[in-house]
Amino acid sequence: MKIGIVGKGGAGKTTTSALLAEAFADEGRRVVAIDTDSNPNLGISLGYSLEETEAVPVLPRAMMVGAAGDVTADELIEEYGRTTPAGVTLLSAIRVTEAGGGCTCGGHATVRSLLGDALEGHADVTLIDMEAGLEHLSRAGGTLAHADVLLVLMEPTRKGVLTAARTVPLAAELGIPFTYGLGNKANLPADRAFFENLCDDQGVPLAGVIPFDEDLLACERAGLRLPPGKGLEVRKEIKQVIALLDNLVPATAS
Ligand SMILES: Nc1ncnc2c1ncn2[C@@H]1O[C@H](COP(=O)(O)OP(=O)(O)O)[C@@H](O)[C@H]1O
Ligand SMILES: [Mg+2]
Repeated sequence: MKIGIVGKGGAGKTTTSALLAEAFADEGRRVVAIDTDSNPNLGISLGYSLEETEAVPVLPRAMMVGAAGDVTADELIEEYGRTTPAGVTLLSAIRVTEAGGGCTCGGHATVRSLLGDALEGHADVTLIDMEAGLEHLSRAGGTLAHADVLLVLMEPTRKGVLTAARTVPLAAELGIPFTYGLGNKANLPADRAFFENLCDDQGVPLAGVIPFDEDLLACERAGLRLPPGKGLEVRKEIKQVIALLDNLVPATAS
């Protein structure tokens, strides 16, 4: 199962990517999480320090992965994959380290190639934490063209839901079978009603509503991942999202 995590800046893409990845791994599934943000932070949410996150080697740009490509998936995981404390293999696809270093299209091409079928034998679940905006859906070929499902993270704001509403038809055009909005930072129960009503109005299928959690915010401020045992309401909702995803893409559920 290949899941693209998209949405507005600050909506909770990285946080939710990490929580989903960890929950899948806790069920014994092999999980690869790919950070495609040019300002990569996924490693921190998966339990690495800043230094460890920055030490994850960045995938070469415009690399074709697979038996007939530049590198096999085995070689790629061996050389560039890092096993994080959350039990998830992290790949870092894009990092901008110098001003004026050029566009990141080559990094996106590598990710697109990876999502073809190269990772099939290595991961039961691949999660892709994307940069904010919709460019990844317009870029030549579409970085996420091979994804099975997109989750659009939404804060409880009108613009958050409208971002999901704009994403739905673009993803369908790219051939991605399923796109859902996923509410986040919700003040329950009122914000659930907000998400349900506006999503219904805008034609956005709703995958769930994750509550606002003080511990998540505090951990982020401290540069730490949410420790096991914390954020129980958040984790409960994450499990329900996983159940929904398993129903959509049953062949890959173990
Ligand atoms: N459910 C939540 N409850 C509380 N804070 C959250 C929640 N989800 C995300 N956050 C906080 O919101 C901020 C942005 O989250 P992040 O995952 O980095 O967003 P994105 O990757 O979409 O830019 C972080 O400080 C994070 O800790
Ligand atoms: Mg992020």
